[in-house]
Amino acid sequence: MEDNWLADFLPLIDPDYPLLELGCGEGKDTDWLTSRGYELICLDISSKWAREAWHLRACPSVQADLSSGLPLRTHSFSCILASLSLHYFSWATSMAVLKDLRRVLCPDGNLIVRLNSVNDSNFGAGQGEVIEPNYYLADDRYKRFFSRDDIQRLFDGWQLSALQEVETRRWNKPKMAWQFSATPV
Ligand SMILES: C[S@@+](CC[C@H](N)C(=O)[O-])C[C@H]1O[C@@H](n2cnc3c(N)ncnc32)[C@H](O)[C@@H]1O
Repeated sequence: MEDNWLADFLPLIDPDYPLLELGCGEGKDTDWLTSRGYELICLDISSKWAREAWHLRACPSVQADLSSGLPLRTHSFSCILASLSLHYFSWATSMAVLKDLRRVLCPDGNLIVRLNSVNDSNFGAGQGEVIEPNYYLADDRYKRFFSRDDIQRLFDGWQLSALQEVETRRWNKPKMAWQFSATPV
């Protein structure tokens, strides 16, 4: 089923500049945006997804671990998209990632975010070994699920807009996620 969640955020994207997509994966958001004329630079830890972004969608792409410091210049993007790619990390690493995103984003730029919700029981919320509150290890993979309060704490120093919990049908089962935009203050 087509997932039009980005429609609400299009006014935040300047069509004259490429936006940075973190954790592009198989490219559903990439396709949605490129089919509407937007230019993207894609980043993924997986060389397969980074290659596909380049070869199938003609998007310049980088294979990199976003938790190791982005290999990108300070204030180089006015918009960054991170859909379901910021949930793999410990709290300390998540904070470091947010600090780095603030560095790469222009001062008045926008981060468009989608995060797993603590209510996302179809995709592992509350399941596995508890490593930190709302952060689990299951099947050798670390995964974090967010409450509203977690988001407000992690994004302290950012102005959040349009924060809402939604059910998405992008995958084979309903998934509960938070979506919002954030701008540094
Ligand atoms: C759940 S998928 C989301 C894909 C797409 N953004 C979407 O919303 O449909 C998460 C993506 O983040 C990538 N990823 C996971 N850890 C990462 C990391 N440390 N650095 C960069 N990308 C990462 C994965 O390879 C995967 O493509």
